[in-house]
Amino acid sequence: MRPARALIDPDALRHNFSRVRSYAPLASVMAVVKADGYGHGMVWTATTLRDADAFGVASAEDGIVLRDAGIQKQICLLEGFFHPDELPTLVRHRLSSVVHHESQLWDLEHAGKIDPIDVWVKVDTGMHRLGFPPETIPAVIRRLKVCMAAGRVRVMSHFPTADNRFDSVTPDQIRLLDELTQNLNVDRSLANSAGIVNWPSSHFEWVRPGIMLYGATPMIGMSAAVLDLKPVMTLASEIIAINQRRKGDAIGYGGDWVCPEDMPVGVVAIGYGDGYPRHAPPGTPVLVNGLRVPLIGRVSMDMITVDLRELPDAKVGDPAVLWGAGLPVEEIAALSGSISYELLCCVTARVPRIESTV
Ligand SMILES: Cc1ncc(COP(=O)(O)O)c(C=O)c1O
Repeated sequence: MRPARALIDPDALRHNFSRVRSYAPLASVMAVVKADGYGHGMVWTATTLRDADAFGVASAEDGIVLRDAGIQKQICLLEGFFHPDELPTLVRHRLSSVVHHESQLWDLEHAGKIDPIDVWVKVDTGMHRLGFPPETIPAVIRRLKVCMAAGRVRVMSHFPTADNRFDSVTPDQIRLLDELTQNLNVDRSLANSAGIVNWPSSHFEWVRPGIMLYGATPMIGMSAAVLDLKPVMTLASEIIAINQRRKGDAIGYGGDWVCPEDMPVGVVAIGYGDGYPRHAPPGTPVLVNGLRVPLIGRVSMDMITVDLRELPDAKVGDPAVLWGAGLPVEEIAALSGSISYELLCCVTARVPRIESTV
């Protein structure tokens, strides 16, 4: 068996969920499990988070997979339904849907005789991606309340910059959502992970954590450890070769990393074919036997090379951690010009997810 694997820790996931509850003790929690549970496995995440009040997914297909796995909690399509043909499927699987656009409203109003679908009206309070303009919300809600195909009506919005504690858009969004819904008597949801951690007045009736559940920090300039979040995924592999190289030897594709002296170079079985970022530059840390050694040369599809000068006793078969316990994923993401979300989501299908309490 190839040694590349993603160890996923259920205790860490449940611990991070308990952090959400302690930040937002009065709110219901919609755990966001789209993109295959941010790469951890959607079914695994949802079944491990037994205490979540609802799950947020990206499609009806995701919702069906969760229902088939026995998940009974509410499931919400965060992008809404894409075509009116999906509506009977939503009814059959008891999936609720975001409604963000006039075309979806029209679809519901012309759905004919179907059982009602619970909806979350998406209002654009400042993200400027999806959502009805704020001034239209009272009319949209009035229409949904008399629409036979719509069941319970709630209101949702989303933050673009809540990770920045000094941002002024976020408090404006909170105020706007509050004002808009003053007399509507509906549940509201605004906070993603950054809102949960840093903007208590954004919690309203429902919070929607994603990244913090998986143990990465949602905040700029605040580590996951400071927020007492634990990494759920540890991407790990092993050293499969150690070769003594000579001063002047060029390492790997492009040959642009050249050995400055005679030195041992380790080869680790992980590459961009596994989701390790191809743009990780030389110097990116890899934990070998628990010690940081620098990546050297370019990342290949199945392998990377590391400088073992500081680890002369390393041997073939020694463990290598690419991120996770002891090496925050956001550190590797920042060095690679990416974000923790992308690195976690992009771990490829060939990497087995193995449940393990690290
Ligand atoms: C609508 C919506 N709500 C909540 C989240 C969770 O965000 P985060 O992972 O930053 O907590 C996302 C994630 O992209 C989202 O799209």
